[in-house]
Order: sequence, then structure tokens, then C-alpha cells
Amino acid sequence: MKIAVIGGTGLIGSQVVKILNASGHEAVPQSPSTGLDLLSGRGLPEALKGVNVVVNLTNSPTFDDASPAFFQATMDNLLTGAIAAGVGHAVILSIVGADQMPGLVYYRAKVLQEDILKAGPVPYSIVRATQFFEFIDAMLSETADENTVRLPATLVQPIASADVAQAVADVSVGAPLHATRNVAGPEVFALDELGKITLAAHGDHRTVVTDKGAGMFASASGDALIAKDGAVIAKTAYREWLAR
Ligand SMILES: NC(=O)c1ccc[n+]([C@@H]2O[C@H](COP(=O)([O-])OP(=O)(O)OC[C@H]3O[C@@H](n4cnc5c(N)ncnc54)[C@H](OP(=O)(O)O)[C@@H]3O)[C@@H](O)[C@H]2O)c1
Repeated sequence: MKIAVIGGTGLIGSQVVKILNASGHEAVPQSPSTGLDLLSGRGLPEALKGVNVVVNLTNSPTFDDASPAFFQATMDNLLTGAIAAGVGHAVILSIVGADQMPGLVYYRAKVLQEDILKAGPVPYSIVRATQFFEFIDAMLSETADENTVRLPATLVQPIASADVAQAVADVSVGAPLHATRNVAGPEVFALDELGKITLAAHGDHRTVVTDKGAGMFASASGDALIAKDGAVIAKTAYREWLAR
């Protein structure tokens, strides 16, 4: 199959391109550096020419109030381009529990992205993943100072980006799901515990202070960010990944 991977130079996209090409498909990375700007639509007809499947792994440059406009414009352009090019399957990557985090504008933007795809005429699949292992250091630094890292005890079920990429690749070469597939890591952690494990692995002697109001996930209630029944559970464990 010929597969356009938009955002194919990013963390997930670059791994998806490798997996697909290694399994005999023709996956082509697309991004501003290869001449495609999905925000304006520049380069899209060329990028989708002769393509069977389009995988959209772009990300908004900011996670703030500008993110809904990014996902709205890029998804509108993607659908227009996919219809014109006769693409038979569009795949996006969203976030487990995105619809249960109304206090986070970036998560609302991801739900908007999903809704545009679902409402359009192009056969689709949505993969929802939990937080990537690679994202955890950035999350800790958000509420850190010289001596402490403040974190709520919010439950999370993080996953290795390599496992997310495999799940996206698997869905991309299958029949359109017309539904959402959830993928998550093998273990559930309280975020403050995850912080302690992470700092210890880095030899970082700062103290984790449990603070239910700290950081972007303070507003998550109960099991909002945890994969529910039917999710694909990935193999890579966090401590094993940290030790690599
Ligand atoms: N972080 C998490 O824990 C998490 C969890 C679940 C789902 N997700 C979702 O996973 C997706 C991929 O995330 P990621 O971490 O792989 O992102 P990333 O590393 O930031 O990569 C983003 C990609 O999008 C491309 N891009 C940006 N603006 C573009 C535009 N206007 N037109 C075309 N391409 C554009 C970038 O190209 P350049 O390299 O040229 O800039 C890059 O290839 C995101 O949609 C995110 O919401 C993330």
C-alpha cells in the first residue's frame, strides 16, 4: 500500500514510517520540511497523489488556546485533500480520555479533531494512546523547582512511543475501523509515584511533593486517563524502558 504519513518526521510519525516500510509498504513522510503544510494545505494534492491511506500524526506547535484552530484547519484540509485524491482510509492519533478532560484546551482540541474526522465522508480509524514515556520528563519539569517536583496522585497508564507507533501502523494497514482503538502501557501508576520512579532512575535527588492542584493533570478525575476494557495493552514496562 502507498501510505502518506503526515507528521512523518515527528516522534511517532518517524517510527510509523520505518515500521511500514520494513513490512513492505511504501510509506512517505510528509511535513513542512518535505514541502507539505497541512495548516495551509500547501503541497497536499502532491502528497496524496496515488495514496491508499493517509495517517495524520501532526501536532499543534502549542498546547494552548491556539490548538483548536490548528486541529480544525488541518483536519478540514486533510478531508478536502483526501476526498479529492480518492484516499480510502484516514487515520489519526488521539489521547485516551480526551473527552473526559474538559478543563484542558489541548484535549478539547483533540476531541474536535476526532469529531471532524468522524463527521466526514472518508473511511477512518482513530487510535487513542495514553501519555508517552517520552513525555514524562517534560511533564515533571512543568511543576518543578530546584528542590521539589509537585505532582497530583492522578492515575496514569503511560506507554512507550515505539508501542504507539506499532499500534498506529497495524491500524493503518487494516480495514478502516470506523471506530476508536485505545492503546495503553502495561502498568497503572499514580503520577506522584511515577515522578519518584523517574527521578530515582535519573539520579535526581529532588523530592516529589504530592499536590492535588499541580500541573496539567490535576483536573483529571478518577480513571479518566486509564484505558478501559477492550484496549490494546502494550508490552514495554516503564522501568525497563528507563533502564535502557
Ligand atoms: N504526547 C503524548 O503523550 C500523546 C499521547 C497521545 C496522543 N498524542 C498525539 O500524538 C500525535 C503525534 O505526537 P508526536 O509527539 O509524534 O508529535 P511531534 O514529535 O511534535 O511531531 C509532530 C509532527 O507534525 C509535523 N507538523 C507540524 N506542523 C505541521 C504542519 N502544519 N503541516 C504538516 N506537518 C506538520 C512536524 O513536522 P516538523 O518536524 O517538520 O516540524 C512533525 O513531523 C499528536 O497529535 C498528539 O496529540 C500524544
